Amino acid sequence: MTDLGPNDMVDRNGWGRDRPAPAGSPRDPPAAFVEQANVSDEDIYERFAAEWPDCWERAAALLSWNRSYESVLEDGDAPRYRWFTGGQLNAAYNCVDRHLEEGRKTHAAIRWEGKQGERETHTYRDLYVAVNEFAAALCDLGVDEDDIVTIYLPMIPELPIAMLACARIGAPHSVVFAGLSADALAARMDAADSEYLITCDGYYRRGDAFNQKSKVDNARLELEHDVETVVVDRLGEDLPHVLGDDEWDYHDLREAFAGETVEPVSRDAEDMLFLMYTSGTTGEPKGVVHTTGGYLAHVAWTARSVLDVEPADTYWCAADIGWITGHSYIVYGPLALGTTTVMYEGTPDYPDRDRLWEIIDRNAVDVFYTAPTAVRAFMKWGEEYPDRHDLSSLRLLGSVGEPINPRAWEWYHEHIGNEECPIVDTWWQTETGAIMVSTLPGVDEMKPGVAGPGLPGIDVQVVDDDGEPVEPGGTGYLTVDRPWPGMARTLYDDDDRFRSEYWGRFSTPENDDWTYFSGDAASVDEDGYVTVLGRVDDVIKVAGRRLSTMEIEGAVTDAKGVAEAAVVGRSSEAAGTDIYAYVSTERDCEPDDDVRHGIETAVESAIGELAVPERIVFTPELPKTRSGKIMRRLLEDVANGEELGDTSALRNPEIVGEIQSESDG
Ligand code: PRX
Repeated sequence: MTDLGPNDMVDRNGWGRDRPAPAGSPRDPPAAFVEQANVSDEDIYERFAAEWPDCWERAAALLSWNRSYESVLEDGDAPRYRWFTGGQLNAAYNCVDRHLEEGRKTHAAIRWEGKQGERETHTYRDLYVAVNEFAAALCDLGVDEDDIVTIYLPMIPELPIAMLACARIGAPHSVVFAGLSADALAARMDAADSEYLITCDGYYRRGDAFNQKSKVDNARLELEHDVETVVVDRLGEDLPHVLGDDEWDYHDLREAFAGETVEPVSRDAEDMLFLMYTSGTTGEPKGVVHTTGGYLAHVAWTARSVLDVEPADTYWCAADIGWITGHSYIVYGPLALGTTTVMYEGTPDYPDRDRLWEIIDRNAVDVFYTAPTAVRAFMKWGEEYPDRHDLSSLRLLGSVGEPINPRAWEWYHEHIGNEECPIVDTWWQTETGAIMVSTLPGVDEMKPGVAGPGLPGIDVQVVDDDGEPVEPGGTGYLTVDRPWPGMARTLYDDDDRFRSEYWGRFSTPENDDWTYFSGDAASVDEDGYVTVLGRVDDVIKVAGRRLSTMEIEGAVTDAKGVAEAAVVGRSSEAAGTDIYAYVSTERDCEPDDDVRHGIETAVESAIGELAVPERIVFTPELPKTRSGKIMRRLLEDVANGEELGDTSALRNPEIVGEIQSESDG
């Protein structure tokens, strides 16, 4: 693994290196909120600490178990911890069936807001019928327990229905974000040996029909194995399509299995619920494995204690289900609690910049959870858009995915929350499964720009290079000392990488002492509140989405005429980070618009449009050390207009000035 020195701590939000943002003035949670909060017990931290790990039984108690677990935590095979062992349950039963039994048949489970202005309400009863029929269809197609089913769908109701149908029959799903490319889809299906795919003909982008099926066709050509494919007809007449071999129409299948029910399969707590591919420190995406019991308990518990979700609420997490935030806090957490979860397909500025506020107003949304990149965009558009709507139904606001700077926090608090809603700034990761660091909104003081303490039962530590906790005010690496139920159990087919990337840096296996390293830098204050500064590895967050600079670099280098490339992140007001690519071309290749276009196309086809660099800077050579390594950190300084560090180790220092002037140009 890369050796990370203190100078590697990069704050990508323009706050300067090694220095947390000055926090805004602290606020107590509003009394009216505290009075009704799900958790308002000030002793909760002490009680969880005293009872650990049994404290997590409170999370498990939010679920219905077919067979009770025998032990809360087994640590004999650390860092492959096992939670709630011996217990059996079914995630779909927990998210759907039991709510019918509890008298919530006609309660809205999902409210869907489509891109074309469509609106649908799916009650828990509707969801039950859909999930059962589709589960029956999947069984008929040959899906067995433990087969991995890939789902490649945009934000339409069939996406959570498909996830829950898989969960019902014990087939782990692997959802691939609909905006990723054919190559990315094929790579993930290949890595997971996935022989089943649920997708659609296309979807709407700002009103235009976009063909998703052609990406699927290309991906299938790349795969060596056959793929049974279910296609949701989303576009109808707007994009007629013909089904090929091994392809099935979703609606026909539903009709063929109308009224059928399928017994939910009892899964062991430690059985895989899903696989989620995410970017890591190398070009290879990694398949993060989440389990049924621990994951579901952790997401349900945090949806209840941090997001304060109640069954009677209308709750809206405006993320995409194609990433972990949507899995945990659009689908599994809220549905496990029996609430109404809003799902929207769209862009916040289409048809106008008040789309989100209109949805909140119309649905009387109680809890709203989004990413700082969205808040910064709203702030730029101005308060006239939220001002057009009645947002008084809101009780709590949440932030996730990147650091939220105090200015954006204040704007969110004032203009969306009317200074009456607490804000939870929640830090977590694909690998942690659920929220790890946040204030408890009914208990803790909020500090704008500062995420908060580790949640009760979560032992978060900011440590120095030697793994020693830093003093209050200090900066270091964000680590977690004790296991937690929602943690990833391994990387699919790559346990060695799981051990080295997360547990290799700060653990001492000879003492059986295991510490999880998040890949983030952070600072901690005298109250134990953590300010997350950003990644210290080759992962970047662009508009809240996680990408790997190495993966993008691989795609850029594959473009015609490119000799070498280095990809770095540049702090940006809007997206948090923009992608900058520094490229040198082959000797006989003129760096021109054709090469530029070729690079853009190569990245789009290898990963997806979301990874296309904001800027491509051509340079005759890349800055290199005497041993021939590209000095990416120097390029990052150049991209960010920062003062350059020591360049004495460079073999070609003269190139730096040239790159700087190209970058500025
Ligand atoms: O750098 C941290 C940032 O997002 C990374 C995890 O990305 P991903 O796996 O895509 O999960 C995103 C949604 C949970 C982290 O390593 N991050 C996440 N939440 C915050 C954050 N950075 C600062 N503050 C946060 N609240």
